[in-house]
Amino acid sequence: MTREVIVKHLTAARWTVSATRHVDYEIVESPHLLDPANPSLGAMPPGSEASGGTRLVVIDEGVEGAFGDRIRSYFASRHDRMDYLVLPGGDEHKTLDQVVEVVSRLNSIGTDRSGTPPIAIGGGVVQDITGMAAGLYRRGIPYVRVPTTLLGQIDGSVSAKNGVNFEGFRNRLGTFAPPPRTLIDRTLIATLPKRQISSGMGEMLKMALIKDARLFELLERYGPQLLAENLQDDGPATREGRVGEEGMHRAIAGMAEELQKNLWETDLKRIVDYGHTFSPAVEMRALPGLLHGEAVALGCVYGAVLAARRGMLRYDRLERIIATTRGMGLRPSHPLFEDADLLNQALADTIHHRDNHQHITLLRDIGVPTFVEDLTPREITEAAGVMADIGKGLSPLPGRGADFPWKG
Ligand SMILES: NC(=O)c1ccc[n+]([C@@H]2O[C@H](COP(=O)([O-])OP(=O)(O)OC[C@H]3O[C@@H](n4cnc5c(N)ncnc54)[C@H](O)[C@@H]3O)[C@@H](O)[C@H]2O)c1
Ligand SMILES: [Zn+2]
Repeated sequence: MTREVIVKHLTAARWTVSATRHVDYEIVESPHLLDPANPSLGAMPPGSEASGGTRLVVIDEGVEGAFGDRIRSYFASRHDRMDYLVLPGGDEHKTLDQVVEVVSRLNSIGTDRSGTPPIAIGGGVVQDITGMAAGLYRRGIPYVRVPTTLLGQIDGSVSAKNGVNFEGFRNRLGTFAPPPRTLIDRTLIATLPKRQISSGMGEMLKMALIKDARLFELLERYGPQLLAENLQDDGPATREGRVGEEGMHRAIAGMAEELQKNLWETDLKRIVDYGHTFSPAVEMRALPGLLHGEAVALGCVYGAVLAARRGMLRYDRLERIIATTRGMGLRPSHPLFEDADLLNQALADTIHHRDNHQHITLLRDIGVPTFVEDLTPREITEAAGVMADIGKGLSPLPGRGADFPWKG
């Protein structure tokens, strides 16, 4: 047999592969998740069928203290093969080592491609770690997310991404790997320390400022009550009904609406990054001194100062934002937000992360965002000076600082 190889033209070959991956995931409110009469917690998420193997439950240390026994008795009454791994929360523990610990446990118990999806019960840190582990193990397996902090329930709950801090940078490593199902039970945050509730309210404030004036009104009018009740609506009735529930629903819906438009972040202009332009560097510098939502709230106030100084946002709006921040138990200023060098460096890091664009969200009004690309080092420095006045309890109005003690 003769082999005929006829090469008429030597051309460079090219093959392309083009595919679309459709993503559907759900965020479901399911009160009293730890009641054995409620099947939601152990149920398989959409798209998976139980294989009968062992499922891993990753539990946040804070949750272990508050609900560890109830979690174990829930699964003991309904499911045979479970394994448990308790991990610490707190951003200082959001590390690759913790991801490897989860991956290693998934491996040792023989977690399947889809038949034994792990369940993460905890704050944003445990969610990010478990989400990243699930995204890496066997190149990605489904998992179930059960956030137990306010921040985790209104923000991380909707997100498709996860990440760990690396070499001094926030979320420098991570994957896009949304779980098919997230379960929300507001009663799980009833045990949360007030400082953590305030931190979660920092992200609610962001959502209110960029797109939901009604949510801002709720925070402005009922901030202290929401904080006192851990958003459980178990205190004195308000004229406006269940404001904790309404606030949470609005925040989750607003986040879902924003993320869906740009889930893979192909567009780096994102209004949900409001309050997150300068805060990452501040947060990492302060670690563990500032919680995520605390840093975000500071970033929201700082953004409002920048906008007010540009004549873009009315000063009375800035004053309302400062008073509302205080009402939620959050500080509107901090020494690191008075440090112009740090803030200029923070902006440089963020510009790098946004492919050399500023893409900074500022406010025209409460609920009305816009983007700017021309913020100058001088504006950053001057706004840092205003933050110093706010920190001393003085008015942010130009030229009035020392004469007008802040009464908020
Ligand atoms: N992937 C995303 O899109 C996304 C979105 C928002 C936030 N995050 C990340 O989430 C992190 C912040 O999350 P967080 O604010 O939940 O902090 P966290 O996870 O550190 O939890 C805060 C503290 O509360 C404890 N805790 C958790 N639930 C509890 C409960 N029910 N009762 C008592 N204590 C409890 C934890 O052990 C921890 O000490 C940040 O790293 C942030 O980047 C990620
Ligand atoms: Zn955030």
